[in-house]
Amino acid sequence: MQGSSLVLRAAAASPRSALRARKPLLSLRMVENIEQLREDYRKQNKTCFVLGASGETGKALLKEIVKGNIFSKVTSIGRRTLNFEDDSYKDVVQEVVDFEKLDEYSSVFQDHDVGFCCLGTTKAKAGEAGFIRVDHDYVVKSAQLAKAGGCKHFNLESSNGADKGSSFLYLKVKGQVEAEVQEFNFDRYTIFRPAVLMCDRQESRPAEWIARKFLAPISYLFPTALSVPVTTVVRAMVNNAVMPSDQKVELLDNKAIHRIGTLEEKKKT
Ligand SMILES: NC(=O)c1ccc[n+]([C@@H]2O[C@H](COP(=O)([O-])OP(=O)(O)OC[C@H]3O[C@@H](n4cnc5c(N)ncnc54)[C@H](OP(=O)(O)O)[C@@H]3O)[C@@H](O)[C@H]2O)c1
Repeated sequence: MQGSSLVLRAAAASPRSALRARKPLLSLRMVENIEQLREDYRKQNKTCFVLGASGETGKALLKEIVKGNIFSKVTSIGRRTLNFEDDSYKDVVQEVVDFEKLDEYSSVFQDHDVGFCCLGTTKAKAGEAGFIRVDHDYVVKSAQLAKAGGCKHFNLESSNGADKGSSFLYLKVKGQVEAEVQEFNFDRYTIFRPAVLMCDRQESRPAEWIARKFLAPISYLFPTALSVPVTTVVRAMVNNAVMPSDQKVELLDNKAIHRIGTLEEKKKT
């Protein structure tokens, strides 16, 4: 194997996707030096916001960021105040906003170098219009305000199969959002397309629960095929953020998320 010339390619994006993005490349140096990359990034004193920090991904992401001390300032933007029992969250700034009037909260989106968006709901929970409102309108508006506020790197949690040409509402909305956020022309825009999230969800979602039970043995045999642990997704978000990149748009599908989200484990083996 030839040191830094080894290139691990992230898995290909959905061929039906109209979104033009380049695949992230992982050099062996990055695999070996992820801790050093995190340390270098820390020294840059960057600031970030997390949208949806009360959700399964957002919660785990905030934990990964706080425990890793990755950013000099972390802001959680959400519709309600969160209770953090652990002392390590004491410096997290909480901004409570009315997502129906986001324009009135533009100051909340000012001066963050990096943004992570883990917002979302389901049609079962919010109805079709409510789903579009959250997963499309709130996300696109937040990205717009973030860009206006100076955000350089925007990270969007989308979904496996996102495709604005899809006949399935969920996948179509996800694909539309990906494309519309790209129009804001962030210096760096990373889209994560996880498959079914494996987590101990507190909220009752029977369909997801059944899918998870069904997927558990498949995940054991083929870990990257149809699912991904939330902990892997958030580690991929942080590991990818700390890796220098000259790619304006990065698209990480489920396999790429597994690769980047398990770098620390690879290092140990
Ligand atoms: N679940 C999966 O298997 C899966 C797979 C692939 C992709 N995804 C996508 O990944 C993203 C995150 O998923 P997740 O399962 O981690 O999310 P989640 O646990 O459902 O959390 C969603 C977040 O969005 C917020 N939110 C929901 N409705 C809102 C509203 N009306 N106004 C303001 N905020 C609202 C929630 O706030 P509250 O806590 O206040 O409700 C929460 O912080 C979503 O876009 C989802 O579509 C999910």
